[in-house]
Amino acid sequence: VSVDYQLIDFDVKGDATGSLVAIEGAGNIPFKIKRVYYIYGTTSAAVRGRHAHRRLQQLIFCPIGSCEFTLDDGRERQTIRLQHPNQGLYIKNSIWREFNNFSPDCVVMVLASECYDESDYIRNYDEFLREVRG
Ligand code: TYD
Repeated sequence: VSVDYQLIDFDVKGDATGSLVAIEGAGNIPFKIKRVYYIYGTTSAAVRGRHAHRRLQQLIFCPIGSCEFTLDDGRERQTIRLQHPNQGLYIKNSIWREFNNFSPDCVVMVLASECYDESDYIRNYDEFLREVRG
């Protein structure tokens, strides 16, 4: 058994002058994009996330730098390092996530299937376990 996530390697349109990656909602990712946000200036000791979502799907990537994601579905825990600008981590709802070990230059970009809604968050781990284990 492993946590239900997907690493997507985006095509790189590259030539001698540089590289380009294009992401299209409901094209090379499985959902329409309603929101984009990004995280930068994280300290090396920071741990972010520590929540799950009830409905939200996300595509997460580091266009600059790297960081680690720990994903937990209530049974299994897996850690993934995002360190390629053309690699995206797709996660559905009901996955507890924590991210840390940021490189000093790290930028985390998130494409989200829904607008911000605090009621979609599960911020308490015990509550998360209750919801996923039914
Ligand atoms: P949070 O989701 O807890 O950040 P992280 O998962 O990176 O630790 O959000 C941090 C703060 O930003 C919190 O006060 C909610 C706010 N926020 C918005 O207003 N809009 C958004 O789209 C997001 C993701 C967060």
